[in-house]
Amino acid sequence: PARRPADLVIFGGTGDLAMRKLIPALYHCDRDGLLPSGTRVIAMSRSGLGDADYRDKVRAEVSVPGATPDDWRRFLTRLHHVSVDISAGVSAGGTNAGTGWDHLTALLTGGEERDRVFYLASPPMTFGPFCRGLGAAGLVTPASRVVLEKPLGRDLASAQRINDEVGEIFSESQIFRIDHYLGKETVQNLLVLRFANAFLEPIWNSLWIDHVQITVAETVGTPGRRGYYDHAGALRDMVQNHLLQLLCLVAMEPPSRNDREAIRDEKVKVLQALRPISGTEADRFTVRGQYTAGHVGGCAVPGYLDEPGSTPPTEASGRVETFAAIRAEVKNWRWAGVPFYLRTGKRMPFRHSEIVVRFKDVPHSIFPGGSPNRLVLRLQPSEGIELHLMAKEPGAGEVALRPVPLSLSFGQAFQGRVPEAYERLLMDVLTGNPTLFMRRDEVEAAWQWIDPILATWETAGTPPEPYPAGTAGPDGARELLGRSGRTWHEEEPA
Ligand code: BG6
Repeated sequence: PARRPADLVIFGGTGDLAMRKLIPALYHCDRDGLLPSGTRVIAMSRSGLGDADYRDKVRAEVSVPGATPDDWRRFLTRLHHVSVDISAGVSAGGTNAGTGWDHLTALLTGGEERDRVFYLASPPMTFGPFCRGLGAAGLVTPASRVVLEKPLGRDLASAQRINDEVGEIFSESQIFRIDHYLGKETVQNLLVLRFANAFLEPIWNSLWIDHVQITVAETVGTPGRRGYYDHAGALRDMVQNHLLQLLCLVAMEPPSRNDREAIRDEKVKVLQALRPISGTEADRFTVRGQYTAGHVGGCAVPGYLDEPGSTPPTEASGRVETFAAIRAEVKNWRWAGVPFYLRTGKRMPFRHSEIVVRFKDVPHSIFPGGSPNRLVLRLQPSEGIELHLMAKEPGAGEVALRPVPLSLSFGQAFQGRVPEAYERLLMDVLTGNPTLFMRRDEVEAAWQWIDPILATWETAGTPPEPYPAGTAGPDGARELLGRSGRTWHEEEPA
């Protein structure tokens, strides 16, 4: 639990992220007794709502399974709402009336002293203005923290600009750049699996591992999100952050301590060792796709360009990728020659996120029909670990081999509710632990690798390969592995 009460100020407090993720996560933290009494959640938006309206809105729109009326009552009293006019200048001390900054200043500076956390769950172009506003109003104390939601920019230059702007007001140790994948239980478990078990480390290298596959497949499409997605695409939305973070955790060297800098230092080294992909290599090592109409889970769904509730499609809509696959390489002693295949897509047949480590074949086989070992780390939806081993089929006569999984299900091994990523991360912010947040050099190293791929795609001007919704992406994704005689995990023998 946090020791001191805090004011958590959420910019974008009526937005999708706040209502879908942050408020439910805070509800759970409160119910579990992790928020000291006196901790307040102050939602900021342009909506003109008062505290009571905001509480009604939360009660009507946020559903939390198993929530009790008592828990709701207590939690709602923590919620406040301030309407802010982002375009209004902020006078010294935040005293200019009617802009919202005066209201926020009055709320934060009166009464008992609390820690201050400013959560920017708003578009990245607002990060600079909001931070300047907070600075001008005199609301940033040395103990304040700021949380930046992804996407942090849309390329290296814009990420640097945002980091500079935020850095004028907050020091690096006050800045928490969130990637919610790092808050997922199984993702943290990856560190424990690698660094709290002795048997893996000796074989965790190019001598034993043939390749690694990292897949984040979603069944959801992008209804209502075209405005954002047309300018993002899967590479910026998923690969630059979530998939590269997973790659870092698989590929990093063992850190010397479980602390914020030691772990982040090792992750940066992985990003800096990624082999650049640009020009003609981008054609060979990357695949882009966009879903067309199809069926997911037995239901007919429209193609990306026909998603309802969005702005009409533009030229940019036709070019944006909803699926991306990349053959990455980490150029260092441990991983030389081991491909890391990254893949993510919307409207895939199943929701599954997994990391598959495919070991090399036995050096000399005395049985017919063996296949190499695979370690599968299932991140979602059902968290677990499977080690696919070769076993003998029971029976007399010729020895017949069959791969069988040695399986650990976290749901069965550990009882109880698994906290959502945002619960963990919000508590880390409130207690001031930045280990699971991205440092500036990490985010910028990731963009540095992504930028040339984006540039090649943009100059090529060709549209992404179409794939029907409910299929495993465009044919190019299969060819990406097929060229070197490999297949995606789901196509291998069970
Ligand atoms: C977000 C992306 O960061 O992650 C979304 O912007 C994506 O497009 C989401 O759907 C996936 O998160 P999760 O936790 O559902 O795997």
